[in-house]
Amino acid sequence: MKELNISLKIQFCELNELSQSDLELVEAAKEMTLTSYAPYSRFQVGAAIRLADGRIFRGSNQENAVFPVGLCAERTAFFAAQSSAPEVPPVCIAIAAQTQGHFTQQPVTPCGSCRQALLESEMRYDQPIRVLLFGTEGVYIVPSVKSLLPLTFDGSELA
Ligand code: THU
Repeated sequence: MKELNISLKIQFCELNELSQSDLELVEAAKEMTLTSYAPYSRFQVGAAIRLADGRIFRGSNQENAVFPVGLCAERTAFFAAQSSAPEVPPVCIAIAAQTQGHFTQQPVTPCGSCRQALLESEMRYDQPIRVLLFGTEGVYIVPSVKSLLPLTFDGSELA
């Protein structure tokens, strides 16, 4: 029997080691936690997505009494970007979260549905999206969404 070996290389750094452009994106994601509507989970997530032309679109999680109706911060930001600028590929997304008035110590990672949604953009534009995950202990820098979702279903087999 053969084995497939899937590996993921991510960088882990302090905020002050980020480039100016990445720092701006992370700060935007942190700020967006304040616009979250999360009365049920009290987990306030912010996301900021940068397009290839430099523009930043922002989002936060929006919950609902009918729980599945709510939407994560990442998809809120991503869909805002895609619907306003469908011709421009996203190149980077930053995510941050607060709970009980404090940013999480551990970097927050996107859920499976958000990974799948963002993966579609990487396929659509043939352009990886770097992922910056903020925590007070540091920032993870992931080279692409695909690397966070191995063995992806990317629709290429659809007729
Ligand atoms: N949430 C996000 O917005 N993004 C993530 O990466 C993880 C989870 C939201 C969904 C829900 O409103 C709350 O956080 C708790 O799961």
